[in-house]
Amino acid sequence: MVESLTIRRPDDWHLHFRDGDTMRAVVPHTARQFARAIVMPNLAPPVTTTALASAYRERILDAVPDGTDFTPLMTAYLTDETDADDLAAGHADGVLIAAKLYPAGATTNSAHGVTDVRNIMGVLERMAEIGMPLCVHGEVTTPDIDIFDREAVFIDRVLQPLVDRLPQLKVIFEHITTMQAVSFVESAGPNVAATITPQHLHINRNDILVGGIRPHMYCLPVAKREQHKLALRGAATSGSPKYFLGTDSAPHHRHDKESDCGCAGIFNAPFALESYIQVFDDEDALGNFEAFASLNGPSFYGMAPNEERITLEKAPVDVPREVDGGAAPIVPFNAGETLAWRLVS
Ligand code: DOR
Ligand code: ZN
Repeated sequence: MVESLTIRRPDDWHLHFRDGDTMRAVVPHTARQFARAIVMPNLAPPVTTTALASAYRERILDAVPDGTDFTPLMTAYLTDETDADDLAAGHADGVLIAAKLYPAGATTNSAHGVTDVRNIMGVLERMAEIGMPLCVHGEVTTPDIDIFDREAVFIDRVLQPLVDRLPQLKVIFEHITTMQAVSFVESAGPNVAATITPQHLHINRNDILVGGIRPHMYCLPVAKREQHKLALRGAATSGSPKYFLGTDSAPHHRHDKESDCGCAGIFNAPFALESYIQVFDDEDALGNFEAFASLNGPSFYGMAPNEERITLEKAPVDVPREVDGGAAPIVPFNAGETLAWRLVS
């Protein structure tokens, strides 16, 4: 039985830090686990330009504890008005690693998102030309589509046509939640990859709704049926270079989740690696953990993997019921549970 695993230091390819007090409270959790993270731009107001991303990066770096080596990788929030020249300049300067497509109204702070992908076709063509990756929140937003079908319908209506039209564009299908997404990624060319969160590998929709509504299990895209979870577990642990770690850690204060209109988002940053590795252990795939956590992401983004190593060992770790979230506490994923693996160094 494997009792410990040493791998290259992982990166988180999809993460929300927020800003201000909340950001300062949550950044140390990610910086403890990961060397780099793709930081999502859905602040209010959103991070839509190179200048805003550059200023946000400085605020994040100020929140990294002394002596911790952590690099935030910035993204721009695409709108119907995005300036392709600004995006290209930010990418050339190394400020913007990628741009994020939020369909307008799909999730937290997405009101300024793209109303129709056709409105940003020029921007996407430019991104394809310069090799700038596109991170995609893959859900349609039309009210006639059931929330559990929104990802699958997005593939048919938006993503497949986009990939057919711009095969050179590097696309990361973020936080996939369905077997349809896995099939799409499998059948697409090498320029399409996907991130998978820890929660979508652990929970199905029963975990949100059976025995009472559990707001801390609610995120978007919402967890689906068990068969989808099993497809995601198969994909993540398969060793395929198309899948990599992206926590989608999304801090919301306890009172904003436990509300009559609770926010979407699961804060998994404090024990993300412990949560992921459990899946690889359960699936007898510990040998593929380093590829998923530390190699596939940098390879897709065209970066070198980290040189530093970390070690996880099979030893219990207790997840607290809540953690400091700045102005108010935040309930982490797996709150109050004991996990079987822990990060030792
Ligand atoms: O659950 C989610 N929370 N999904 C998203 O897409 C956004 C995120 C957030 O920012 O809270
Ligand atoms: Zn996200």
